[in-house]
Amino acid sequence: MSSPPKLLIPLHVSYIQKLGESKDDLSYHLTAHLRLNAVYWGLTALCIMGHKDALDREEMIDFVMSCWDEEAGGFGAHPKHDAHLLSTLSAIQILVIQDALDKLEISRVVKFILSLQQPSGVFAGDSFGEIDTRFSYCAVSALSLLGHLHGLDVEKTVSYIEKCRNFDGGFGNTIGAESHSGQVFVCVAALAILDRLDVIDDQMLGWWLAERQLPNGGLNGRPEKLEDVCYSFWVLSALSILKKVSWIDADKLSSFILSAQDLEGGGIADRPGDMVDVFHTLFGVAGLSILGYPGLVDLDPVYCMPAPVIEAKGLRKGWQSLERRVSQD
Ligand code: FPP
Ligand code: ZN
Repeated sequence: MSSPPKLLIPLHVSYIQKLGESKDDLSYHLTAHLRLNAVYWGLTALCIMGHKDALDREEMIDFVMSCWDEEAGGFGAHPKHDAHLLSTLSAIQILVIQDALDKLEISRVVKFILSLQQPSGVFAGDSFGEIDTRFSYCAVSALSLLGHLHGLDVEKTVSYIEKCRNFDGGFGNTIGAESHSGQVFVCVAALAILDRLDVIDDQMLGWWLAERQLPNGGLNGRPEKLEDVCYSFWVLSALSILKKVSWIDADKLSSFILSAQDLEGGGIADRPGDMVDVFHTLFGVAGLSILGYPGLVDLDPVYCMPAPVIEAKGLRKGWQSLERRVSQD
């Protein structure tokens, strides 16, 4: 078998730079509901590749602030969209990375986030009320980044997540829902921020996560599903928090991620041969960073942000040495 290409950093940087340029494309408008998330994905990928300044800082901050929903006190995904927890977390992550939290009316955002907690302890994404452990993670991560975790009812938050734990050690999006690696990431990372990893059966969950690797090296999100580059992050981040990255074959996973690159236009796809997008570009690069791929900046697996940014904010827990290289496990 021929060896996979290397990570084509300059090509991926120019792919991300060009994303915002073609505002006439239909795809640009079809993805408006994800715009702020996409800026976070692109910026984080650039930071991990060591090219934070490839996008203009002031322009980015202005765009983030143009997504502020004055009535709700949170951020929508696009100017004039209603505030949502997903886009509010992305806005906070961008402002933290760009060291621009002073733009924010922090007390209003904190109030918006806390207002979305339900009596059961789970969070709704917005005032329309869809509940999901993804939104619990968004709330916990955002409050932590803002230095306002003290306002949260931690017991209630943890109790809901605990009830989402299944017989296989994994977690679902609501009580009784099947285990899914994306939901495993959000639950494990939220518990890590809240210092409640004791809720996890780490042996059982470690096995379930390790079993996500398929013979071609890629990881899937659930049993019987196809491999997908984004699970390189959802699965690996959870394994990294549990200090079990060595339970998967790192070389085979790196080769799988690298073979999903577009060698001409840049970007990474969900699997080799498919169309690239910025979501899979981030999570491919993120996976490679956790695996210790040479030349990449360390990624914090809990916040999915550059580790130096999280360290500078004093948010890395004492127990949590960065686990990323297989040889260190
Ligand atoms: C898979 O989604 C991923 C998840 C369910 C987790 C999503 C987590 C968030 C949105 C929280 C914020 C995340 C970060 C990194 C800050 P999918 O819909 O692609 O699942 P599928 O593969 O089953 O379709
Ligand atoms: Zn995917």
